[in-house]
Amino acid sequence: MTTDYLVIGSGVAGLTFAVKIAEKFPDRNIVIVTKANEDESNTKYAQGGVAIVLDKEEDSFKKHIKDTLIAGDELCDEDVVKMVVKEGPDRLKELLLWGANFDVNDAGKFDLGKEGGHSEYRIVHHKDITGYEIERALLNKAHQLENISILPHHFAIDLITNHHVKDYDSLELKCFGAYVFNQKSGEIFTIKANYTLLASGGIGCVYGHTTNPVIATGDGIAMAYRAKARIKDMEFVQFHPTALYDAKGESSFLISEAVRGFGAYLRNTEGHRFMPDYDERAELASRDIVSQSIDSELKKSGESHVYLDCTHLDMEAFIKHFPNIYNKCLEQHIDIKEDWIPVVPASHYLCGGIEVDKKGKTTIKDLFACGECSRTGLHGANRLASNSLLEALVYAHNIFKHLSKTKHKDADIEIPDWNDEGTIITKEHILIQHNLKQLQALMRDYVGIVRSNKRLKRAIKHLDLIYEEVEDLYRESKITTSLCELRNMINVAHLIIRQSLDRKVNKGGYFNIDNIKKGNL
Ligand code: FAD
Ligand code: SIN
Repeated sequence: MTTDYLVIGSGVAGLTFAVKIAEKFPDRNIVIVTKANEDESNTKYAQGGVAIVLDKEEDSFKKHIKDTLIAGDELCDEDVVKMVVKEGPDRLKELLLWGANFDVNDAGKFDLGKEGGHSEYRIVHHKDITGYEIERALLNKAHQLENISILPHHFAIDLITNHHVKDYDSLELKCFGAYVFNQKSGEIFTIKANYTLLASGGIGCVYGHTTNPVIATGDGIAMAYRAKARIKDMEFVQFHPTALYDAKGESSFLISEAVRGFGAYLRNTEGHRFMPDYDERAELASRDIVSQSIDSELKKSGESHVYLDCTHLDMEAFIKHFPNIYNKCLEQHIDIKEDWIPVVPASHYLCGGIEVDKKGKTTIKDLFACGECSRTGLHGANRLASNSLLEALVYAHNIFKHLSKTKHKDADIEIPDWNDEGTIITKEHILIQHNLKQLQALMRDYVGIVRSNKRLKRAIKHLDLIYEEVEDLYRESKITTSLCELRNMINVAHLIIRQSLDRKVNKGGYFNIDNIKKGNL
């Protein structure tokens, strides 16, 4: 297959870019490959909303910029922060034009929420299912554009670069598209593209306990890494403080930070409201601080969870704003009116990823990255809540603007077919499942909220064993999605551990007890 633009992923990042470029150039075609149903993505589960400065009386770009920089703990790229924050209102106008709905108050103005680390009310939301609404509107718009083809259940295996192309005589690393696996037919085919966009989302599943859906296996980052793109800031995995606690460790349902913005308190098992002991912003301190504080409470008490107390809140207003959370808790026999919600931190978001410039360009020619798989410099060491959807919208626009101006050319290069000669259909599913569980346990136990050099080094040793076993299996087996995902998660885990070991000073979401001992706080 040949296309002008190959987009890998159908979340907010991929769809926004596709819609924009398709509308501007009706004679060019866009292929979106996505590995599950077309709407399955982290985007679909976003709850809190999008951080955008709209109330110019109370709020200002300056305040949003300052909050983002504080959350990022000195590691944000200030120019990027300014650019992203200032673009917010224009990107919101587009979403509205494409049919997305956001809540308004009785005065007819956007009902703005608040979340940790924000000094003002600035979170535009659709009840507590903002991502679902954005995904719905974007997919609806994409379906109206004839030059966009969405291929669900198509898994991108690897990027095609110089290494795959015989006699391609250039020292500059360049991307020509990707090898793609049709998960229903089992066929592997080549998609040759002038430009490729990785919009493949996050890595939550590398950890056993995560707020992310099962698609979040870091495929794009692993593919880019194997293709030799630069990957940065992988040590900054963000743990969300309040995932619903499930004794079996199966639930990954999120209790939005907006619930704390609405006035909920965090209490330990003795009923003590502990956050004011750790930070003057209490429950609305930035996410890294709240997660680290909960971790410290759990270590002190030996308990498995803390509680979120909403019982003092205006319940009518609460249920109107958070119907999804209210009902989900009821399903678990937790009546928020009377019961405290048991919560625990869970892996949620990756602040690092594939390094890109302001135009979304990676270090490989004609390869772009956008959304959670990319590292733009906006988040630094810790992302400010609800800045992720905003980042994806702004960078999708930037990539669109850049490619609109770029002289169009057709890829006239011979790419060899995928070669799986000598491989067999594996019967070793048990090996894949076993290694996945080992990997997730290893990341949870040794590479969690609080790290140490000893645990990180042990993690690398264990990971090397898993790596060898899975690479052997990969070499001899026909492709399956679960095998490719496991291989990708191993690559991502390797990057997280290696870059953690390289970080000698604690910042934001990165906390290593050995750095404290050395005074590198
Ligand atoms: P995604 O939306 O995850 O899309 C990735 C796409 O790539 C998917 O379609 C996936 O199937 C596809 N894909 C992946 N690998 C492959 C492959 N190998 N081949 C083909 N396709 C592939 N952020 C906010 O700003 N505000 C919030 O309120 C908020 N709430 C959140 C709540 C939850 C529960 C979660 C999990 C995240 C939340 N976030 C929030 C973060 C935010 O939702 C994500 O960072 C953002 O949606 C990522 O968008 P994306 O397009 O980059 O990736
Ligand atoms: C939430 O609603 O708590 C998630 C917000 C985010 O991840 O930005």
